[in-house]
Amino acid sequence: TFVPVDFLLKEAMKGNYAVGAFNCNNMEIVQAIVRAAEEENAPVIMQASQGAIKYAGIGFITAMAREAAANAKVPVALHLDHGTSFDQVMQCLRNGFSGVMIDGSKHPLEENIALTRQVIAAARPIGVSVEAELGKIGGTEDDITVSEREAMFTDPAEAKYFVEQTGVDSLAVAIGTAHGQYKGEPKLDFERLKKIVSMVDIPIVLHGSSGVPGEAVQEAIALGVRKVNIDTNIREAFVAACRKVLDTDSREIDPRKVLGPAREAAVEVIREKIRIFGSSGKA
Ligand code: G3H
Ligand code: 13P
Ligand code: ZN
Ligand code: NA
Repeated sequence: TFVPVDFLLKEAMKGNYAVGAFNCNNMEIVQAIVRAAEEENAPVIMQASQGAIKYAGIGFITAMAREAAANAKVPVALHLDHGTSFDQVMQCLRNGFSGVMIDGSKHPLEENIALTRQVIAAARPIGVSVEAELGKIGGTEDDITVSEREAMFTDPAEAKYFVEQTGVDSLAVAIGTAHGQYKGEPKLDFERLKKIVSMVDIPIVLHGSSGVPGEAVQEAIALGVRKVNIDTNIREAFVAACRKVLDTDSREIDPRKVLGPAREAAVEVIREKIRIFGSSGKA
């Protein structure tokens, strides 16, 4: 069944686990996310990034996600990942997303607050919840030092102010993770996370979670993270499986013989994440 993101995060708050939010770009990944959730009897969020919307088109993403959700034995939500503008959020609302993220983290604080409030004013009346970002999460490819990255971490007092000023539903925080493949092992600032959680009472979202060791993710969940975003680890498994088929038989011409095993590989990665997040059996 198709459900609001908000409903899943509220259940996760009560149950002290995190819901997996998995990025999808194509039909095979959409199907893999729902299949994995069904096999784990877990609630799940699928989400579309800027790149996904550009690649597949918002209509295809929505139609695929809603078709998969409608036939699913578990609750499935569809969320906009790192929304860039008010107009893009409006498009998602018209298309039937059940949650949106507005990422105003690149703007000065007061502009981030104003943009987030504007999005909430449009989304909340139709039952769509809003995730915002405070601090800058950034990418593993950003050419910056550790101290430069730390300077972009979320400030707990600012988080409290941001949540009070916006009334936002969930908050993505910068505590040491980054988008993409890590070179070494990321070090998370658990003290900072603990402070943030003690100062705000909404679900906290962990981005850039691919490549973060399972124990570290579980510690973050124990401290209050309720949504964990995964993209890169799915891409790695998907493309590795494609490559394996093509390496084995360079004359293979049937896309289904290439993408079928890739879909299976994605299911396995997603199931493993769901187990780590503690959402198995919570459907
Ligand atoms: O926001 C994080 C996504 O992993 C970036 O995805 O390359 O599809 O825009 P994209
Ligand atoms: P990764 O690609 O590092 O898993 O990050 C995903 C993410 O945060 C999407 O918003
Ligand atoms: Zn992200
Ligand atoms: Na990552």
